Amino acid sequence: DWNAEHIVDELVADVQKQVGNGKVLLAISGGVDSSTLALLLAKAVGDRLTAVFIDHGLLRLGEREQVEAALRPLGVNLITVDAREQFLGELKGVDDPEQKRKIIGREFIRAFERETAQLGSFDFLAQGTLYPDVIESAGGPHSDKSGAANIKSHHNVGGLPEDLKFKLVEPFRTLFKDEVREIARLLGLPEHIRMRHPFPGPGLAIRCLGEVSEEKLDILRRVDDIFISGLREFGLYDGCSQALAVLTPIRSVGVMGDERTYSYTAALRAVTTDDFMTAEWARLPYDFLATMSNRIVNQVHEINRVVYDITGKPPATIEWE
Ligand code: XMP
Repeated sequence: DWNAEHIVDELVADVQKQVGNGKVLLAISGGVDSSTLALLLAKAVGDRLTAVFIDHGLLRLGEREQVEAALRPLGVNLITVDAREQFLGELKGVDDPEQKRKIIGREFIRAFERETAQLGSFDFLAQGTLYPDVIESAGGPHSDKSGAANIKSHHNVGGLPEDLKFKLVEPFRTLFKDEVREIARLLGLPEHIRMRHPFPGPGLAIRCLGEVSEEKLDILRRVDDIFISGLREFGLYDGCSQALAVLTPIRSVGVMGDERTYSYTAALRAVTTDDFMTAEWARLPYDFLATMSNRIVNQVHEINRVVYDITGKPPATIEWE
């Protein structure tokens, strides 16, 4: 039977054996897998781990600070890189979803290489590859789906250039997500990161429909924060597999006080699913949705209309792009 404490000791010993006195590099996404891996590696090799977190400007409100606050006090040698200008510059004028993904993937590698080149040499590259990723990239049933599975493998498995002369450290290769969450609990990862919904590598760029701009991202960030905080506040977060806000390019007429408005429409989406290949829209209570809608239009003046997505997957995908 599965004993998490025992597993942690075993994983630490395995890493120590593999790495010896070598130096380890890890790219942090802010998700549960790479954050847990950072804690495990810090326990195993201490300061010989360097974790790099690239802020591509497509993160949620306060996300970078949350990751720093979660990992640094637990001994992770964490470097955060402000690459916001680089990413937003490259995304300028681009409105095609797959093109956005391509650019973000490419720029991620560029930023990571540029940063790590200054950090001296490393012997190992750690990755938070899980067992299902291993299956998927080995040609599982969904490995050819455009978008999610592809890009997921792009970000998680072999997403970094092949000519990097590192040996890979992948302690989670045999584990499932639940097991990683259990390990995270033992290693002291804060609950809000440990139980977080998945968040795509391209971040808010694929939730800001069409061309991305600093202004639109700023609007979306505030809407997303109200919705996600609301789900937590009302005890609904853990019942959803994923929840998100989308900033649509649609502007419509509204009225605020005596004034006519002409502002953006925000869409909220929440789903339940076992595997993210199919999903149901979450039957959130009407009263909760009403509260969210009120808060959003009151606090985010650029929004005058809020809609809730009642489409399953298929035919819709979870993300809107
Ligand atoms: P879709 O929208 O295809 O999403 O139903 C299924 C799951 O995959 C995530 N997703 C991505 N993750 N890079 C990622 O790392 C991507 O480009 C990407 N696109 C979708 C999505 O958030 C959902 O969990």
